[in-house]
Amino acid sequence: MLVSAKEMLEKAKAGHYAVGQFNINNLEWTKSILQTAQEMNSPVILGVSEGAGKYMTGFKTVAAMVKAMIEEMNITVPVALHLDHGTYEGCYKCIEAGFSSIMFDGSHYPIDENVAKTKELVAVCKEKGLSLEAEVGSIGGEEDGVVGMGECADPKECKMIADLGIDMLAAGIGNIHGKYPANWKGLSFETLDAIQQLTGTMPLVLHGGTGIPADMIKKAIDLGVSKINVNTECQLAFAEATRKYIEEGKDQQGKGYDPRKLLAPGAEAIKATVKEKIELFGSANKA
Ligand code: 13P
Repeated sequence: MLVSAKEMLEKAKAGHYAVGQFNINNLEWTKSILQTAQEMNSPVILGVSEGAGKYMTGFKTVAAMVKAMIEEMNITVPVALHLDHGTYEGCYKCIEAGFSSIMFDGSHYPIDENVAKTKELVAVCKEKGLSLEAEVGSIGGEEDGVVGMGECADPKECKMIADLGIDMLAAGIGNIHGKYPANWKGLSFETLDAIQQLTGTMPLVLHGGTGIPADMIKKAIDLGVSKINVNTECQLAFAEATRKYIEEGKDQQGKGYDPRKLLAPGAEAIKATVKEKIELFGSANKA
């Protein structure tokens, strides 16, 4: 069932668990994530970066694929199709393409401009029934060419954006996209606590889910995080399983070169990663 992320995140916030956003890159990725969410009876958010959207030939292709898969695979758990780190123009393209949720990343604009653009998108999303994520304080690291320095968000600015009527708020708390460097200082729970105090029931989003230790994830959920984004970890799992298959020469045995065989270990590795995250985030059986 393709739905906005609003209700699933409100339930997660009230129930003290988080819903995973898993980014998709192609058909195998999407299939593996949907299958696992269904098996675990968990709500799920499919994240699409602008780069991944382009790679899959455009947002319309992505929306059509996801809708058809939900139907053909009999997926009954709530699924949100969500633009990840959207530009202003990208948001409108996804609204038109049939996404059920978007993120407008205005964190690189001066706060007044972030507020103005977010406000405009709140009205459009409300009218069309989509959920909207906004961001304050950039996420560190690089994702698909979007580079952030990783500074902590100002809780007062978070409140300003949260009050505009958005459905979820991404706030930088020292989190980074991609692998965490050895000298990473960890998440700033002080910042998270201050944001949660000011924003109340607003579901908070933790980007850069790859490589955050389980105890930090649990503490973040305790402090109001209801959506956790994971991208790199599925990519690493896919790459490792595929490398192993080829290094063992399995692509040269029988019809091991058949893409349905060649890509199967990677797809299984994505499923295992998603299963582990759903268990950690506590969203199993919450569909
Ligand atoms: P990772 O690639 O670090 O898991 O981050 C994913 C993310 O935050 C998507 O927006």
